[in-house]
Amino acid sequence: MRLIIDTDTAGDDTYSLLLAMRTPGSTLEAVTICVGNVPFDQQVENALATIEAAGFSGKVPVYLGARRPMVKPWEASTMHGNDGMSGVDLPIARQRPETMHAVDAIIERVMAEPGEIDILAQAPLTNIAMAVMKEPRIAKAVRHLWIMGGTDNAVGNITPCAEYNFFIDPEAARIVFEAGFDITLSTWTLTMRSGLFEADQLNEIFAMKTPLSEFYRKVSAVPRETAETRYGRPVSTHPDSLTCACALNPDLIESSREAVVRIETAGEITRGFSAIHPPKLGTRWPEFKVNARVIEQASTDGFLKMMKQAFAE
Ligand code: BDR
Ligand code: CA
Repeated sequence: MRLIIDTDTAGDDTYSLLLAMRTPGSTLEAVTICVGNVPFDQQVENALATIEAAGFSGKVPVYLGARRPMVKPWEASTMHGNDGMSGVDLPIARQRPETMHAVDAIIERVMAEPGEIDILAQAPLTNIAMAVMKEPRIAKAVRHLWIMGGTDNAVGNITPCAEYNFFIDPEAARIVFEAGFDITLSTWTLTMRSGLFEADQLNEIFAMKTPLSEFYRKVSAVPRETAETRYGRPVSTHPDSLTCACALNPDLIESSREAVVRIETAGEITRGFSAIHPPKLGTRWPEFKVNARVIEQASTDGFLKMMKQAFAE
């Protein structure tokens, strides 16, 4: 499978890149950077360092995209540490970013080979929204759009109602869900259900003692400390890498449902909320059609196996 990953590279975003580079049968065609987790230029360096760490220097072009959301400005958070990588010494990246803008790179690559390339959107949806506004035909030319964002139960992680990616740029998310892409949605609710590694699972990875398992151990240190405060135990959460694993290996998906997904942009309490309705909203609202498949459950064991394979020597 051929994949473009749109990312706000920090923490779990990097494991997703590692999976896409190191899973047999997967080709990471390009990485595009979007506003999100940490300061923009740091996200670029994190992506380049991850490509270096994976042994893929010069093989995966990195393009710079939106430095701010569409409407409401956003200051990066510190929940992954100031650099998003728990302050580890990163490998020195030999590769530098491309000069073409990420939005143009997405359009050019997708339109050159319609139906061939999947996109994994694991950041706020600003770049994808800008791309589809500039070239609406990409909605049908992308083979499949995998999105990490939203919640399936109104329990958010940045506000009580909203998940981070959709909260940062709900206007962009709304544009993307209304654009006609073939979408699979992987929510924060799914992360908490299927994308958590507990101590024994983490120890399986740490015991590998390979360069990439050590990279994972060190980069995940601050998020594990944050999790201890939030959830009472130092688990590791994998919203982006679980989504990537499902994209690379859809057999991991144990249950999913078709849905009408709408994104709240205006609510005082609910900005960024993802309303996930059943396929038929009723005769009163015939205009709302199914626009996504929502993953409800995925195999944590299968996901862990893929991560360990990606971190092997
Ligand atoms: C999402 O928000 C970001 O902090 C993570 O990288 C992930 O994409 C989880 O809500
Ligand atoms: Ca992300």
